[in-house]
Amino acid sequence: MKPIRPVFAGLDIGSTKVSITVGIPSFAAGASTQNEIEIVGVGTAPNTGIRQGVVVNIEATSESISRAREEAELMSGYKIHEVWVGVNGTHIKSFDSRGMVAIRNKEVTAQDVQRVIEAAKAVAVPTDRTVLHVLPREFKVDGQDGILDPVGMNGIRLEASVHIVTCSATAVANNLKCIEKAGLKVAGLVLDQLAASMSVISEDEKNLGVCVVDMGGGCSNMIYFVNGSVAHTSVIPVGGSHFTHDIAVGLRTPQIAAEDLKKKYGCAIATLVPEEEVMDVEGVGGRKPRTVLRREIAEVIEPRAEETMQLIQNDLRMSGLLPLMGSGIVLTGGACQLEGILEMGEFVFDVPVRRSSPGKVGGLVEVVKSPAYATGVGLILYGWNQKKHLLSHFHSEDAIGDSLQSWTTKIKGLLDHLF
Ligand SMILES: Nc1ncnc2c1ncn2[C@@H]1O[C@H](COP(=O)(O)OP(=O)(O)OP(=O)(O)O)[C@@H](O)[C@H]1O
Ligand SMILES: [Mg+2]
Repeated sequence: MKPIRPVFAGLDIGSTKVSITVGIPSFAAGASTQNEIEIVGVGTAPNTGIRQGVVVNIEATSESISRAREEAELMSGYKIHEVWVGVNGTHIKSFDSRGMVAIRNKEVTAQDVQRVIEAAKAVAVPTDRTVLHVLPREFKVDGQDGILDPVGMNGIRLEASVHIVTCSATAVANNLKCIEKAGLKVAGLVLDQLAASMSVISEDEKNLGVCVVDMGGGCSNMIYFVNGSVAHTSVIPVGGSHFTHDIAVGLRTPQIAAEDLKKKYGCAIATLVPEEEVMDVEGVGGRKPRTVLRREIAEVIEPRAEETMQLIQNDLRMSGLLPLMGSGIVLTGGACQLEGILEMGEFVFDVPVRRSSPGKVGGLVEVVKSPAYATGVGLILYGWNQKKHLLSHFHSEDAIGDSLQSWTTKIKGLLDHLF
């Protein structure tokens, strides 16, 4: 294993795959890039133990986590002890809240901000639910609104408007059980779409207003940003697996073959597929493969794609935030790779839609360039943002010194052993 460095690992327990992404701060890696994190490894394992964010098989899930961990450790050369864990699923609920406090010394301090957030948090949350995040939306000082960082401002009254995200305590406890069983510690729990947004959108987009949709296997997780802060989050229980299931039923083919067909020939709009294109479809129960028009698969997918986009649009409408989405909609997650999904999105929403893959990191970017790694990479960036102030003493010279020291010790040990 390589010498001790601050290692950040993101564990994404998805309904189709478990992935562990590993990154180290660029200064510790001795890399001179604009990015603060270098990706050094990824481990993935298929998972059947999760359904729509909820563990349905502890053994299978912890087994997948262990396999992903082994692969990530092998690829990165770093031992993983602690992970930032993504949480998703239909059990996630969120709501807005407000708090108000008197400013103690007529100038807002970090403690005042902490107190007003605590005040906003003081709402009755049922005992079977856990607060995952309290995300500040904006602050008001003596009625003056639109303030993102009030520290240092003069005033008498400080108000905060926050967005609170809660999740089922049981669902999280079961996730934690699987992680513990795999021998890992939890550094923190992070809402999947919040993590994904860290790796796929820019600060400009957040300021202009944007909705990020992480289209996974079991569900599509959404997060809205207005004026640079989180305004709303929601979950739609439709994802890539529903498309696969429709294909399996519609074309009478096994699920595994349907999944392959979707990735190879799938298209969300039938008219985008050239009329004469054909494909081979495996039969079920030993029936012979058939050759069918590619349009048939698109005709099966189209209604589901339209329905998914309409569910997203309904959510946008209900939130009342649609007019504030200046940067439009950003699709990410494995299922957004379906051909024609952007066109379907633009047709339904009537606002710009783009597909985004994880960015803002250096190192092994090629291995995490798929939108399916948006959450994994985002978890590292989230962890880094939470911890970077604690690591300011850690310089690249230390890292190199550390590495040299460790090598000299190793060589010395070897020589002692030999002679
Ligand atoms: N090229 C592709 N075209 C269409 N769909 C794809 C493609 N590649 C992957 N998918 C789909 O993406 C989905 C998996 O996405 P992802 O890895 O983001 O999900 P997950 O994180 O495991 O699930 P969830 O977030 O719902 O728990 C699968 O349904 C898969 O079929
Ligand atoms: Mg996911």
